[in-house]
Amino acid sequence: MGYSFLRKKPLPKGEARGGLKRVLSVIDLTAIGIAAIIGAGIFSTIGEAAAKAGSSIVIVFVIGAIVAGLSALSYAEMASSVPLSGSAYTYAYVVFGELVAWIVGWMLILEYAVGNIAVAISWSSYFQSLLQSWGISFPLYLGRDPLSLWRDAQAFLTTGDPSLRAAYEAWQAAPRLLGIPLVANLPALGITTLVTLIAYVGIKESRLANNTMVILKIGAILLVITVGAFFVQPARWHDFMPRGFSGMMQGVGAVFFAYIGFDALSTTAEEARNPKRDLPLGILLSLGFCTLLYIAVALVLTGLASYKELAVPDPLAYVLTQLPVSNSLRNFLSAVVSLSAVIAIASVLLVFQLGQPRIWYAMSRDGLLPPFLGRVHRRFQTPHVATLLTGMVVGVPLFFSSMQTVVDMSSMGTLTAFAVVSAGVAYLHYSPPEGYAPTFRVPNIPGRWLFLLLVGLGFFVAWQMEPEGLKALWNLSEGGEIWRYRVLLAMVTVAGYFTVRYNLSLLPVLGCLSALYLIVELGVNNWIRLGLWTGLGIGLYFAYGYWQSLLRKDNS
Ligand code: ALA
Repeated sequence: MGYSFLRKKPLPKGEARGGLKRVLSVIDLTAIGIAAIIGAGIFSTIGEAAAKAGSSIVIVFVIGAIVAGLSALSYAEMASSVPLSGSAYTYAYVVFGELVAWIVGWMLILEYAVGNIAVAISWSSYFQSLLQSWGISFPLYLGRDPLSLWRDAQAFLTTGDPSLRAAYEAWQAAPRLLGIPLVANLPALGITTLVTLIAYVGIKESRLANNTMVILKIGAILLVITVGAFFVQPARWHDFMPRGFSGMMQGVGAVFFAYIGFDALSTTAEEARNPKRDLPLGILLSLGFCTLLYIAVALVLTGLASYKELAVPDPLAYVLTQLPVSNSLRNFLSAVVSLSAVIAIASVLLVFQLGQPRIWYAMSRDGLLPPFLGRVHRRFQTPHVATLLTGMVVGVPLFFSSMQTVVDMSSMGTLTAFAVVSAGVAYLHYSPPEGYAPTFRVPNIPGRWLFLLLVGLGFFVAWQMEPEGLKALWNLSEGGEIWRYRVLLAMVTVAGYFTVRYNLSLLPVLGCLSALYLIVELGVNNWIRLGLWTGLGIGLYFAYGYWQSLLRKDNS
């Protein structure tokens, strides 16, 4: 029987011939990337990051872009040499074999389906604010999930916190069926259903919807940047790094969410007209474009308001309400931002809702998931069963999911996939298999000495900025936050060992390490959740996928 879970997928010769239609050009692919990247992150999590980092948030965006960019390079190389559906899952299959591929596929459920739960909740909040700005009131019991509304109502009864009164009243006011209050996040459920139907009908129709939404949201963001630029007060930028280096680095985690998404376009490899040329181009163009836009937004944001005020769910709308202009202009600008958030977040939802079924489609084709998930609709030529299942996997948890948890879990899953893809490219540079001929290559810079130099430089900078923190690293009686940096140090040591010993390619090694570092930043509770999720995935693999793929191999 051997170790069949280590079996690798052979490199494809030529392009795959699935049942999917090849209609996507490089512009469509870049638009899919932008659609997935610009969303809840730049409209919401930027506020939290700015509150931690002050105006050094601009640096945080640059760091975020470097972390995402390093992984993007590896994704681009893999996409150009393995132009098959399945994104990181398929790449891991080619480089590390079946078990790692399964784990990555399992992680991508966190990025796409679980990420979309967060996106749908966030869309619903903006949609409700938009209705409010038009003077339409929407009952809270139809705009929240029952679990969190019930919790808030209970908390009001015990603590009397006035900010929870609305939740308590909504719980009381909800209509009852057999005594059970009918509470649901209807806008979130509605948008999930609509987007699932668009994805079901077909990639061509989705492309049209996608490109239109992308143009609209870029226009709206440019409007915010241009109007805001006239009122920026450069003196506000002097509040640089108010909470020191570690405060700034905490901002990186929140900002990272804003960069997730460029990898989604690699899931459409089998629908691209010229995947080997256009996929790397689309990945790098979309990420580069969004980085420029983000840095401009960050500059405007921190130039318009004090960092202390920015920890709000709608920071872009908030700063515009602070402009010294007439009331009607302020209201107009604010409504434009709310509307663009609704559009932007819906397009993220669509791209992820297209990505998830295509990964399941690829996994099912490999025998790791049941065959029904690999079915292609005869008329629409889309993986329709997997698309409907994605709709349910996103829709059902909307009744009990906490926003923070799903956002963190989505980031963890994405970062794990980024780390594996980067490690894969480092391995391929070291030992390329026969027939490995990417049309795009990550610059292959030998890492041995440069890695050591960078580690030395890192220690020097840390010593200059937080000498006490660096000393505490060695004092094992000190606990708390410092453990994160100890874990990081351990990872750097392991990566350093392999890089120095095998003179590995520097950029993918840095891509892998930086993704792992952000995982470390997300904290112990999330590590435990990730551990449980991974354990469940490995259990399922040995209960189903392992045997199925073994049977296939025996029969072939
Ligand atoms: N980058 C995506 C967003 O910000 C996930 O919504």
